[in-house]
Amino acid sequence: MKYNFDEVISRYNTDSVKWDHAEKLFGDKDILPMWIADMDFVSPKPVVEALKERAEHGVFGYTSRSNDYFQAFIDWVQRRHKWDIQKRWIRCTPGIMPALSIAIQSFTNEGDKVIIQTPVYTPFMEVIEKNNRDIVLNPLKYENERYGMDYENLEEVARDEDVKMIILCNPHNPAGRVWSKEELTRLGEICLKNNVLVISDEAHFDIVYKGHTHTPFASISEEFSDHSITCTAPSKTFNLAGVQMANIIIPNKELRDSFTKIIDIMYLGLSNTFGVTAAENAYKYGEEWLDQFLDYLEGNLTFLTTFIETNLKEIKVIPPEGTYLAWLDCRALGLDAKELEDFFRKNAKVAFDEGYTFGLGGEGFTRVNMACPRHVLEDGLRRVERAVKENLAKNAEEVR
Ligand SMILES: Cc1ncc(COP(=O)(O)O)c(C=O)c1O
Repeated sequence: MKYNFDEVISRYNTDSVKWDHAEKLFGDKDILPMWIADMDFVSPKPVVEALKERAEHGVFGYTSRSNDYFQAFIDWVQRRHKWDIQKRWIRCTPGIMPALSIAIQSFTNEGDKVIIQTPVYTPFMEVIEKNNRDIVLNPLKYENERYGMDYENLEEVARDEDVKMIILCNPHNPAGRVWSKEELTRLGEICLKNNVLVISDEAHFDIVYKGHTHTPFASISEEFSDHSITCTAPSKTFNLAGVQMANIIIPNKELRDSFTKIIDIMYLGLSNTFGVTAAENAYKYGEEWLDQFLDYLEGNLTFLTTFIETNLKEIKVIPPEGTYLAWLDCRALGLDAKELEDFFRKNAKVAFDEGYTFGLGGEGFTRVNMACPRHVLEDGLRRVERAVKENLAKNAEEVR
C-alpha cells in the first residue's frame, strides 16, 4: 500500500511529550515542536491493525514474549543488517535508556569511569551521573563539516584502569554519522586491548540514507560480539517510542547473566501487552512502510538542505548519513549558547534541541527533527528565515 506522509495529524491531547508539553516547557503556545526524537507519522498499518485487534480482545493480563516475537526480530536483524543472532542472546527492556542504566549497574561499580563521544544524546551523560559513575570524554573530531572519532585520544583515555565501559552511539545522534566497519574496528581494537566494554546503542540502526550501510558493532567479529552488548528498539524505526520495547543483544553468557540479574531485581521480566504486539507486527510486516518512510525522509533532507543553502546562508547543514535528525552549524549567527536557544524559541518560535545540551562540542549547533510532513518542516524553516531577517534588519538599524 502507499502511505501518505504529507498528512498532518494533530497530536495535541494525546499526552504527547513533543506536542502537549511544548507550551509548558517552552512557554509559548505557538511554538512549533521539532525537538525530541519521535515522528509525527502514523505507524505501519499492520501494526495499528494488530493493536486494534489486541485491544478488541479486551483481556490484558500479564504478558510474556512468544517464539514468534523473537523470530520476527531475529529475521529483521538478518534481513536488514545481515547479522545472525540467536534467541537466547536477546533480553527485553522497556526502552534503550533503561538498558543503558542496567548495563552500567551490571558491568561497572560506583566510581568507575564510562567513555562517551560528545556531542552526543544528552541522556548518555545523565545515565552515567545518576548511577554515580564518572564521565570520560572522547569528543568527536569535526573537520571539513564531517565528524570522525579521535582514536589518539581514545587510546589515551582508555588506558586509565578505572575506565570500564564506552557507550557508543551508532548511528550517531546528533552527528548523523553511520560509522563504517573500519572506524568501528579501530574503536573496538582499542577497547579490547584496554578491557573497555562496548555498549553499542543502535537505536537508529534502521534509519540510514542511500549510499550508507549500518554495521552492528558486534557483527564485525566474534571477539567484538563477545565484548559488547547491542541495544536496539523498534521505537525510532516505526515510531513506537510510546510502547516502550527494546531488544538487547548479549551474546556473551557471563555478561548476559549479570544483565539478567538486574532485570530480575527490578522485576522487569514481563512486557507491556501492547508493546509486544506492536514490536512483533512491526518487525514482521513493517518493512514496506519503512522503505516508503526512508524515501520520504530523503526528500525532507533534500528540502531542508536546499532551503538552508538558498535562504539561510548563515547556517550550515552537516549532511547526515543516518537518523532523521539534522544537525545544523549555526555559529555564523554569532550568538552564544543561550542567545541561540532564545533566538530559536522566542524569535523564530521553533523548538529544536539546542546544541549545548549534547555536551562538549555542541555549542553553536542545533538539532532539528525532520520526521514530519514536508510542509510542517517548511513552516519551521520559514519561521527561522523570518527571524534571521528580522535580526539582520534590527542590527542594521542599530548600526545606523
Ligand atoms: C541514541 C539514542 N538512544 C536511546 C534513545 C532512547 O531510547 P528509548 O526511548 O528506547 O529509551 C534515543 C532517543 O532519541 C536515542 O537517540
